[in-house]
Amino acid sequence: MKFFIDTANLNDIKEAQDLGVLDGVTTNPSLMAKEGISGKENILNHYKAICEIVDGDVSAEVIATDFDGMVKEGEELAALHEQIVVKIPMTKDGVKACKYFTEKGIRTNVTLVFSVGQALLAAKAGATYVSPFLGRLDDISTDGLNLIEEIRLVYDNYLYDTQILAASIRHTMHVVNCAKIGADVMTGPLSSILGLLKHPLTDIGLAQFLADHAKANS
Ligand code: E4P
Repeated sequence: MKFFIDTANLNDIKEAQDLGVLDGVTTNPSLMAKEGISGKENILNHYKAICEIVDGDVSAEVIATDFDGMVKEGEELAALHEQIVVKIPMTKDGVKACKYFTEKGIRTNVTLVFSVGQALLAAKAGATYVSPFLGRLDDISTDGLNLIEEIRLVYDNYLYDTQILAASIRHTMHVVNCAKIGADVMTGPLSSILGLLKHPLTDIGLAQFLADHAKANS
């Protein structure tokens, strides 16, 4: 499973990259705003800065909601850097724009996906990635993991190439469970990746090894 980090924070991206397990980055307009990035020039420069840190795909989301606007913005984003993947919302114009980009050889991530039907449309339009929002479904007492399992089944039935990018990951067990059910990619905060490191028996075992070594070598 590929590991993406879901943030626009350059320090978090560097930390995940330094760990050596990062395959890419996803951003969205809220995450960019959280880092105080505003204005076209600054936004484009920030995407470039992310591409320079990470060795992998970087999703950059369009703001336009109409087909022509998405095409214009998406082409501009894709021209920024070869690692950019154009992120498009799951709407009627978004599906049309996805198909357009597919035909142009521009990679896409169809976002805000909450149903199997939406995921099917994204695959039909040739999306590189589809982003079902696991955490936001869990937030409203709906089984987000079940959605990912169902998308996996449908994509496997027809051998679609679209990669399932489990998004809106909130914690480490989301990551583990997505791996069990065959999500191609997960995107979550740094904490969801670092959480995978933790086990008390690892800490206890290491402390014992070091204590025994110190005793024998004193
Ligand atoms: C997906 O690419 C989104 O950026 C993201 O995963 C949304 O996560 P949230 O529901 O925690 O905001």
